Amino acid sequence: MRKKVIAGNWKMNKLPNEAMEFITELEPLVKNTENEVVVCVPYTDLFYALNMAQDTNIKIGAQNMNAEEKGAYTGEVSGEMLKAIGVEYVILGHSERRAYYSETDESVNKKLKKALSLSLKPIVCVGESLEQRESGSAKEIVTTQTRLALDGLSNDDVKSTIIAYEPIWAIGTGKTATKEDANETIKWIREEILKLYGNDVADSVIIQYGGSVKSSNANELFTMSDIDGGLVGGASLKADEFSKIVNYK
Ligand code: PGA
Repeated sequence: MRKKVIAGNWKMNKLPNEAMEFITELEPLVKNTENEVVVCVPYTDLFYALNMAQDTNIKIGAQNMNAEEKGAYTGEVSGEMLKAIGVEYVILGHSERRAYYSETDESVNKKLKKALSLSLKPIVCVGESLEQRESGSAKEIVTTQTRLALDGLSNDDVKSTIIAYEPIWAIGTGKTATKEDANETIKWIREEILKLYGNDVADSVIIQYGGSVKSSNANELFTMSDIDGGLVGGASLKADEFSKIVNYK
């Protein structure tokens, strides 16, 4: 049985005091869950969130990293830096980073290799645009993104990678993919992994759904055969709402 991983993606929201309040509020609400609880916060909140999450079942993640270890990359943060302060997870290749910050399949692949070499747990985002969905190329898009992101990885590395299927048209729009469409697309991704890495890897790799997940639709999505939890944006900003998503059943 694959574990369900429910990860919040705060994007560019919350000051350190708000991050600390959030973790304090969330902790008693999710302490009995069997699901993995992750909160991916802005860089400036990491230290504070990590402190508050110590001795709890809440894991802290970043939302991006640079693939290089160090050097003349003004404004960037390396995986080594995240690792050094105790960060466990990192989101890579979110569609907002692909759209606004020139993130490519190639850069995602480089970052993924680096994250895995540091034993950071990567959440790699893939997903099609509305145009691509409507023109029938969603399958081609998500399987290609998956193949290129995972290029050159060992079977064990693929097993340690979480994939988040996030249709771009569903992100922050309130428009959720139907549970059937989300499950079918995730099955396409799993079949691609099966072709490339075999049954054992395909069976164990965790694939989340993301895009307007909220407490009112978490249960129907996360109980589908191939959906192993979710990456949650807007609805992860309130501890009470996020806890209901974590405790979806
Ligand atoms: P949303 O964002 O839940 O607000 O749609 C999801 C994401 O961007 O990861």
